[in-house]
Amino acid sequence: MTDPQIVEEQSSAESSSSKTVTLRMAKFNPEHDSGTQFVNFQVSYERWTTVLDAILDVKKHLDHSVAVRYSCRQASCGSCGMKINGRPRLACFTKISELNSDVITVEPMNNYPIVRDLVVDLERMFDTHKEMKPFIIREDSEITTNTKEFLQTPEQVEEYIQFANCIKCGLCNSACPTMATDSSFLGPQALTQAYRYVADNRDKGKNERLKIIDDSHGIWRCHFAGSCSQVCPKGVDPAMGIQMLRGHLLGFKK
Ligand code: SF4
Ligand code: FES
Repeated sequence: MTDPQIVEEQSSAESSSSKTVTLRMAKFNPEHDSGTQFVNFQVSYERWTTVLDAILDVKKHLDHSVAVRYSCRQASCGSCGMKINGRPRLACFTKISELNSDVITVEPMNNYPIVRDLVVDLERMFDTHKEMKPFIIREDSEITTNTKEFLQTPEQVEEYIQFANCIKCGLCNSACPTMATDSSFLGPQALTQAYRYVADNRDKGKNERLKIIDDSHGIWRCHFAGSCSQVCPKGVDPAMGIQMLRGHLLGFKK
């Protein structure tokens, strides 16, 4: 990919706000571009305007071709992950006013193939997530015939609920330095989901999952940079989940 370059300056979309910011947006279509180019758009914003609002404003008024993925606009669906001023964030959960910058640079997340502009292909994450068998595993007839509820105490729920809050946005994998260097690494998202089920007292699939992650591209590849936990928008703390899983593998936890 060639060096990114600023190629265009656009005028502001109309708004009653007096504040404007430069939205510096990465544009890249792998089907016909040799590298990323950055285009500057002047956008108006209010105190509550999110980066996603600004991108959609640009798409509506200035450049219909902008490729961006989103759905819920409330930090629930995990669709709108991108790099904002160099850090993986949810665009719908990041207010321009809180970035304290006159220039907001938006780029696709690292460690994923680019589909176009701000959209990346999350298939690798979904594949590794599936590898972790993200469902309750047990053999008894109650679960296969749906005849019984498996009640848990608040303490039992507390063991895993934080890790169940993952929205599969992929920000953690994007921030992970090991993901950048090992294309087969399972990644913090998948490893944390393995822990989510290992920590659930209804589940009996612990040994199956530990076998999958105890691999040269599995849990031992994590160097505990901790960047996954810094960028997670849901407080999942993948770095802690990985450490807890290691405890199970090393026999410190039962
Ligand atoms: S662990 Fe956090 S950052 Fe990673 S995919 Fe889940 S919600 Fe997103
Ligand atoms: S649009 Fe759903 S998380 Fe941002």
